[in-house]
Amino acid sequence: MKPAFSQSARDILRDRYLWRDENRNPIEKPEEMLRRVATHVAGAERTLPLQYKWADEFYEIMAKLLFMPNSPTLMNAGRPSPHGQLAACFVVGVEDSMDSICEALRKQMLIHKSGGGTGFNFSKLRSEGAKVNSTNGRASGPVSFMGLFDKATETVQQGGMRRGANMGILNIDHPDIRKFIHCKDKDGTITNFNISVGVSDSFMKKAEENPCGDEAALLAEIADSAWRTGDPGIIFLDAINRGNTTPELGELTATNPCGESPLYPNEACNLGSINLSLLVRDGEFDYETLRGVAAVAARFLDDVIEINDYPLPEISQAVKQTRKIGLGVMGWADLLFRLRVPYDSEEALALAENIMRTIRETACETSVELGREKGVPETLAHLGRRNATLTCIAPTGTIALLAGCSSGIEPLFALEHTRVRTQIDGKKVVMKQVNRCYEEARKEGLDEETMKKVFVTSHDISPAAHVRMQGSFQKYTDLAVSKTINLRHECGVKDVIGAYTLAWKEGCKGITIYRDGSKQSQVLYTKEDE
Ligand code: CDP
Repeated sequence: MKPAFSQSARDILRDRYLWRDENRNPIEKPEEMLRRVATHVAGAERTLPLQYKWADEFYEIMAKLLFMPNSPTLMNAGRPSPHGQLAACFVVGVEDSMDSICEALRKQMLIHKSGGGTGFNFSKLRSEGAKVNSTNGRASGPVSFMGLFDKATETVQQGGMRRGANMGILNIDHPDIRKFIHCKDKDGTITNFNISVGVSDSFMKKAEENPCGDEAALLAEIADSAWRTGDPGIIFLDAINRGNTTPELGELTATNPCGESPLYPNEACNLGSINLSLLVRDGEFDYETLRGVAAVAARFLDDVIEINDYPLPEISQAVKQTRKIGLGVMGWADLLFRLRVPYDSEEALALAENIMRTIRETACETSVELGREKGVPETLAHLGRRNATLTCIAPTGTIALLAGCSSGIEPLFALEHTRVRTQIDGKKVVMKQVNRCYEEARKEGLDEETMKKVFVTSHDISPAAHVRMQGSFQKYTDLAVSKTINLRHECGVKDVIGAYTLAWKEGCKGITIYRDGSKQSQVLYTKEDE
């Protein structure tokens, strides 16, 4: 069967995903790209008949746009070594020594070159002005070193396709935390990092219990900065470690760039997302198809680990120890439109939980079967399955465009908008888009009241409803959930603090807020802004 890609998906594929010859002309069609991915990934199966069987199954779920792996898998599957790197998420450890900083920088550059994004927790670095024994000099501090990692990112393009992304984390008890909170205040200072403050439960408790204490003041400072600029985010370190399935390997302190994968230093995780928008049958959610797709997708992601060409031997070793995979969803807002369920309703929260539980359950069963068939890593013997983690919700920034659905679990930013797409040659193309489900409903002649309730966008939804949706998806997500809590321009810092507290209580692993109009450049423009 031919893949169901739309014309705009085909344009994106041509600009960024299809393989090219030395004159930069594409040498494959979208269909051939999916065949290449399916065949290469199925190469991890043990016998030729199994490889054929699974290549067909993998091809089918992608061609029907029911499942998409993360971008590096689409771009690089089948490339000869050393360019066959297929995972999107990496974490690099940084210790308090020049040796370690240089080593981390080297790893970062190699990972970016391979197409992956990197996350760091800089809290072990001594503070700015602290003594450096060997020279009797003074240390530069984590924020200054972060500038170095930022510059390196500028220089290395991911697989020649896109700029690398980073997550920089500093724990709340680090002496330089205030400098860190404000390190992106000025537009254009650190441009290739998302930044997050790592906080503990006891910090959040104290901030809540004593409004006059230091903790409350610090939380307000974080909220104020995020209100102004969107940065920093918060990472709830205790929630992350409560969800850690391998605590014997140590504490988790860092995540990948968009926060959805808490990982150990040198670990990587490959992601894939199921397109929920297509799973409607007779006006109901189609759990049966979901189970089928989730089982094949979980196997696909485990196979990716086997055939992935990791940029460093220590990464390969760390990955094989835990075999973390991140199966998630996209097209959630579109699904709700099709089912006529408002995003900010109890029904939507319950459906989110049910869907995610089904995916997790199915992926877990697959992982147990895979364990019997192919073996369980020693570290995971106590779990009795092949993968330490199964589920994760990614932003799906590009793959949702390929699948033609809304991104991740986000509500729509607008029902009609124009999108600015940058082609490989740097030219910007403006694409006009009306949400398909909205258009269908309008044609169907749905009554005004239902239209108003169902077709809600980011800013119609209260911050609390955004957070609750994140919390509902988090319940059955082993890794974390990527979500932006969108606030209206007129929201106050108090609303931001309220969202932080609720996210913590809901068991979210982190929170990122964005107040409309608070950054100078926005990727999306509503119709009125044209
Ligand atoms: O849709 P796509 O697979 O391209 O990516 P995504 O779901 O938007 O992002 C998933 C992860 O890919 C991010 O959290 C980063 O770890 C990584 N990424 C990156 O390294 N560089 C980018 N420019 C975009 C994403």
